[in-house]
Amino acid sequence: MKNFKTKYGYFDKNGKEFVITNHQTPRPWTNLLTNGDFGAIVSQTGSGYSWKGNAQLNRITRWEQDLIKDEWGKYLYIRDDSNGKFWSAGWKPVCAKPDFYEVRHGIGYTQISSRNYGIQSDLLMFIANDAPVELWKVTLTNKTKKRRTLSLYSYMEWNLGAAPDWHREFHKCFLNTEYDSKTGTIFGTKRLWEVPSPNGHWNRDWEYVAFHTSSVKPSSFDCDKESFMGMYQNLQSPKSVIEGKLKKQSGNSLDAIGSLQVKCSLKPNETKEIIFLLGATEKKDEAKKIIKKYKTVRSVDRAFSEMQKMWESLLGTTEVKTPDDSMNIMLNTWLKYQAIAGRLWGRTGYYQTGGAFGFRDQLQDSQIFLPIDPSQTKKQILLHARHQFKDGQVYHWWHPLSEVGLPTEMTDDLLWLPFVVSAYLQETNDHSILHLSEPFLDDKGGASLYEHCIRAIEKVYTRMSDRGLPLIGAGDWNDGLSAVGIQWKGESIWLGQFLHRILIDCIPMAELMSDPLRAVLFKQRADALRASLNSNGWDGAYYYGATKDSGEKLGSQTSPEGKIWLNTQTWSVIADVADEQRSHQVMDVVEKRLEHKAGTVLVYPGYKTPDTKIGYLTRYAAGMRENGGTYTHAATWTVIAHAKLKRAEAAFRSFSKINPIIRGAKPDEYVAEPYVTPGNIDGPDSRFYGRGGWTWYTGSAAWMFKAGFEWILGIRAGNTGLEIDPCIPKIWKSYSVKRIYRGATYHITVKNPNHVSKNIIKVVMDGKEIPVQEGKCIIPIGDVKSEHTVEVMLGK
Ligand code: GLC
Repeated sequence: MKNFKTKYGYFDKNGKEFVITNHQTPRPWTNLLTNGDFGAIVSQTGSGYSWKGNAQLNRITRWEQDLIKDEWGKYLYIRDDSNGKFWSAGWKPVCAKPDFYEVRHGIGYTQISSRNYGIQSDLLMFIANDAPVELWKVTLTNKTKKRRTLSLYSYMEWNLGAAPDWHREFHKCFLNTEYDSKTGTIFGTKRLWEVPSPNGHWNRDWEYVAFHTSSVKPSSFDCDKESFMGMYQNLQSPKSVIEGKLKKQSGNSLDAIGSLQVKCSLKPNETKEIIFLLGATEKKDEAKKIIKKYKTVRSVDRAFSEMQKMWESLLGTTEVKTPDDSMNIMLNTWLKYQAIAGRLWGRTGYYQTGGAFGFRDQLQDSQIFLPIDPSQTKKQILLHARHQFKDGQVYHWWHPLSEVGLPTEMTDDLLWLPFVVSAYLQETNDHSILHLSEPFLDDKGGASLYEHCIRAIEKVYTRMSDRGLPLIGAGDWNDGLSAVGIQWKGESIWLGQFLHRILIDCIPMAELMSDPLRAVLFKQRADALRASLNSNGWDGAYYYGATKDSGEKLGSQTSPEGKIWLNTQTWSVIADVADEQRSHQVMDVVEKRLEHKAGTVLVYPGYKTPDTKIGYLTRYAAGMRENGGTYTHAATWTVIAHAKLKRAEAAFRSFSKINPIIRGAKPDEYVAEPYVTPGNIDGPDSRFYGRGGWTWYTGSAAWMFKAGFEWILGIRAGNTGLEIDPCIPKIWKSYSVKRIYRGATYHITVKNPNHVSKNIIKVVMDGKEIPVQEGKCIIPIGDVKSEHTVEVMLGK
């Protein structure tokens, strides 16, 4: 079935594949392929780049950010040697007019199929599970009645180090290439790497060797851009491909590229399969082993099915069936895939090459693993704990490979550690994590994870205002508030709410750690904080946002612009700061003043004038990104806040409005991919109202999963068991959820014959009725490895 079809494509294979039928999508529509170490991003034109370990510091192939041209990539030319006509397997770089063109972006792979002059080409790209290598399987079929003699030419530019490689005349001096005729492999190395070294600045080798080879022995090769392309020529019609001859250049100081020529002749209706490999290893010997292993079609086919199995085993751990197919597709497949492949493993996209770990970012993202494989969340927690200073402060981000990091004046980063630890405990009840000792950045002796969490909280308590509110410094969760409190006077209402949530959640943690005084202290602090937030943070009709160093209120009715901020409303509910009446009051305001066609905007109205005392948020055009756009990450919190208050229609509506499949129904307005979340959608103040951008590399994916799965479908990990607490559209008759919780698998079916939106009246587990309280139910913790059937009845 062709689901959610637009003029550019549709979902296939139960939503697990997005098929692009028109390559002229309004923006590059990309896929991200990675095994957590090696990775590649590929667009529907066939453009993109590859990396190992860090997409910024260790980019294997060159790419420059130009989403309009999208003309940097690793390409494959196909040439008919009888008449010299050529095209490319992807639409770029030749931009021929194929008779057929289709791109299938799937989980862990992309396949580009094209037909030109009677030759069908299917280029399948993916990354092996167990090796730093990208595999291309090219299947060529002769659909004509004539014998055809073809040459394939691969092409990529070596980057081999930090990206962007903008000063190419400098960097090319350190690149070296060689062709090993025995294995038919191009090897690339670089004698400079821009990461810190014990020998001083820029005095370190790039510590890898890149390789590129094919299953059919190449008949020729080239490592020189000049001889391949021709001076003043371009990739659309490179000299070598026109002439049908590669010049076999290699060595140092070239504009280094990798190109292999592979010949292929095809009888009528004949099909042949050819493999190309691109990878990078620490030692050449390792590369040779990988080459040997993956040089056959059989081994590549096996690697492909192993890769698919790996993803199935991850994504298949949770499964939902609701009457809303767009929700099913996002919750079952793409949000989890985006959070894992895009945010945790690849940490890159077309809109932003990160490479680094953001302290707050990847911790939040790692929540995606809680219902899938919580040991991965644990790994992430411990990694972040090691990037904290002994005074509790943390790096805002740091780069794996170089370990260079940015100490921060942002004030929320450190608190995400206790936040995620507490979510991990709810999921697993694995208290042992709190005792694990991890070093600090400036104290290798380290301390227990519990102590790391305590130091984060205590650090915030060294930065409180006289009114008992936390200072905002160079920004809270909102990066754009970069100047609000740089003199350490301005306060953040949101940070206070967030801190309140953490204090409450850490009370059981302190009790577990036999630290009763701390538990009492946290309770007292939470009470005091809540009182201050509710008096000092209240603006009459809603919570304002922050105070500047001058004391001026932001996000207030008295503010000339940016009169109302979203996060202080949603988090007053999420953090249990507002009482019930106020909670509804502020969410009414959110619906009335912040909700638009593309979800809730972060600020309204957007700032039209840059304000040096607020920060760069005010420098975006009004309606864009943090300045009045729908910031998807924050918009997912709207869903949670509504659902927490059982405002079911509003919760589902807010979810659907930011669902990329729904937004993508108008692709020329929305422009972004319909299968992954965007960082932002332009708000009503923008001239591009409704336009999505910054896809893949956004913290919204994991949170949107949480909002839909835990809060609308209402299946949440709790301290004493699995909570079932639906908040669904009334029209739904039933839905089902599969979820693993503390080792046991639950198959939950929720029936709604009376068309209500909430309120459980009966639960039967494995044939036995279990108690329901106040319309909710807590499934007692089952035996590890057991399977349970849970039937839930909603009603009045
Ligand atoms: C970006 C940052 C994230 C921040 C958000 C809001 O997505 O990566 O850390 O919280 O913007 O400013």
